[in-house]
Amino acid sequence: MNNYSEKFEKMRVAGRVASKTLDMITDHIKPGITTEKIDNMCYEFIKDNGGHSAPLFYRGYKKSVCTSLNHVICHGIPSDRTLEEGDILNIDVTAIVNDYYGDTSRMFAVGEISVKAKNLINSTYESMMNAIKILKPGSKLGDIGYEIQSYVEEKGFSVVRDFCGHGISNTFHEPPNVLHYGKKNTGQELKPGMTFTIEPMINAGKYESKLLKDGWTAVTKDKSLSAQYEHTLGITENGYEIFTESVKGYTKPPYN
Ligand code: MF3
Ligand code: CO
Ligand code: CO
Repeated sequence: MNNYSEKFEKMRVAGRVASKTLDMITDHIKPGITTEKIDNMCYEFIKDNGGHSAPLFYRGYKKSVCTSLNHVICHGIPSDRTLEEGDILNIDVTAIVNDYYGDTSRMFAVGEISVKAKNLINSTYESMMNAIKILKPGSKLGDIGYEIQSYVEEKGFSVVRDFCGHGISNTFHEPPNVLHYGKKNTGQELKPGMTFTIEPMINAGKYESKLLKDGWTAVTKDKSLSAQYEHTLGITENGYEIFTESVKGYTKPPYN
């Protein structure tokens, strides 16, 4: 036992509802489904599993999840847009259960996608996992950014600067900011009990982003493809715990 075991148990429960929501929706990601239908199914699933959706009514946001297609970096708003063969899609789910938050996103492929899109998705996932693997007390926030940036830039991709990971527990977004670029051995030191997200947004082209007039949708300025993965994690005495791992082992497409 330690002074954060109760907090971690609540994070586990919330994280599990969020990751199971993504597991549930996976079979439905096919040409013809609208992002609005995806939103409704996630809303119902979270409710049926004892939680509610954090984005709904958050700062005026009117949907339950974010659906970010192709050149959308993040915060894509579910709509009557139907998924089409060749699309890549990020679905970002945040569930609140007993006042605690689980925040996670994954990439999905609609039918057959380009080699470039596959490489972008794989690299984004691997960059997140490389950063997670170095987590332990004494590691620093800059080490996380360094792992992600060095890995994806080597592949010719770029790290979005305008959005970052965040502390999370019984509030949605709290300190610290977790940047996805940076230098080794810089920034705040990690301590047992800390809980935060790592959620790199990686562009196939340049890193600059642009906000659409709806006030939410962030897109790549050069219209290149963008991918994102997100886990909610905690720092333990000698390492880390991932609260939002897929129960079904879903990491990267293809999932079947
Ligand atoms: N889930 C996002 C994150 O990772 C935040 C979405 S806020 C919303 O922090 F309002 F756009 F849903
Ligand atoms: Co987040
Ligand atoms: Co999120």
